[in-house]
Amino acid sequence: MLSKLVSQLQPSPTLALAAKAKELKASGKDVISLTVGEPDWETYDVAKKSGIDAINKGITRYTPASGSAEIKEAVVKLINSQLGTSYKMNNVTVTAGAKFILFSALNSLLDPDDEVILPAPFWVSYTAMVDLCRAKPVILETGLEANFKVTAEQIEKAITSKTKLIMLNSPSNPTGMVYSKDELRQIADVLMKHPDIAIVSDDIYNQLCFNNDGFAPHLLQVEPSLGDRCVCVNGVSKAYAMTGWRIGWATGPENIIKAMTNFQSQALGAASSISQMASAAALNEAHRDVKNALTQLNQRREFGFEKLSSVPGFKLLNPEGAFYFWISISDLMSKSNSKFTLNDSRAYSSALLEEKNVVVVPGQEFGCDGYIRVSYAVENESMSKAVERFTEFNRSFL
Ligand SMILES: Cc1ncc(COP(=O)(O)O)c(C=O)c1O
Repeated sequence: MLSKLVSQLQPSPTLALAAKAKELKASGKDVISLTVGEPDWETYDVAKKSGIDAINKGITRYTPASGSAEIKEAVVKLINSQLGTSYKMNNVTVTAGAKFILFSALNSLLDPDDEVILPAPFWVSYTAMVDLCRAKPVILETGLEANFKVTAEQIEKAITSKTKLIMLNSPSNPTGMVYSKDELRQIADVLMKHPDIAIVSDDIYNQLCFNNDGFAPHLLQVEPSLGDRCVCVNGVSKAYAMTGWRIGWATGPENIIKAMTNFQSQALGAASSISQMASAAALNEAHRDVKNALTQLNQRREFGFEKLSSVPGFKLLNPEGAFYFWISISDLMSKSNSKFTLNDSRAYSSALLEEKNVVVVPGQEFGCDGYIRVSYAVENESMSKAVERFTEFNRSFL
């Protein structure tokens, strides 16, 4: 009875692994989950209070499909101050999470068979969403030697008459790499030659960046004129520790934002009015909280990087943003111990779980075998314990 399209759909592997880790923990196993794509700290007080106030004041009804005035004003104020753009309320649409905003943007921009350029490794849901739009992902491989960043030349070579869209994600999930202004300039130069290509810039981690600004450089800072075909995606999940509140938004040219709002109004309605109020307060007032979280995350990054770099069989770069280590396990591939053969990164992850109760996400889920993704949005104590287990496990193959 199922449609062909949906029959081929796999569940989000990161969500499935996180659920598996929870299940094992509940059954009494000493599981360390390094799969989490969410901060382990609490939603900031100002947002909690605003959500509670919204309930008490009866702000509990439908809002416009593009979001309430409060949150749209807060988004406009924040993004204009960060990027130097001059977005107005009509350039913003808000919905239930950045994930659905991405889906809305792709549905609003893609026709069947359009080609979408996706630098790999990419966030797990990008390819599935492009497939759901019946468009075609064109995957550009990157490697450790290129800091997992796609080059302007690669993009130029991949462009065909069918190219409709390119997706960028900096800081990247899963690699944590951040494109510099120079690299973005070169990419902008290629895109300027192809005015029919739309850009979706997934900026969900842009306030979790360990440079001096605490903010990732952006394509629109280096080339503002791309603003007439660039959709910037963001949300409260990561920097504001509000994954469960489900608020995400896009800013972009009015015609695309209007089309997205139409799509959202038919497919979902509006995001929760309560979450919108809480998110508006977070955007307006939680600047210091975000800064403090970044400082703590940076300490965890330094701690984890030093420890993981000493694990035999692991090679990694120090991430510049987000909260993931992207670790090469190529030295372990095809190796065997008395019980397991590590044919690929999925085999590594499942053997590690079975043997050591540590959960990591295999690189294949992000379009690159021979890697694992390890989240460091966990206490240092958990990271230390995990590192001991990684070391013992890897040694048994080397
Ligand atoms: C790169 C990237 N984009 C978008 C999202 C979606 O975030 P949200 O929780 O707002 O749907 C995530 C969440 O993991 C992500 O990692």
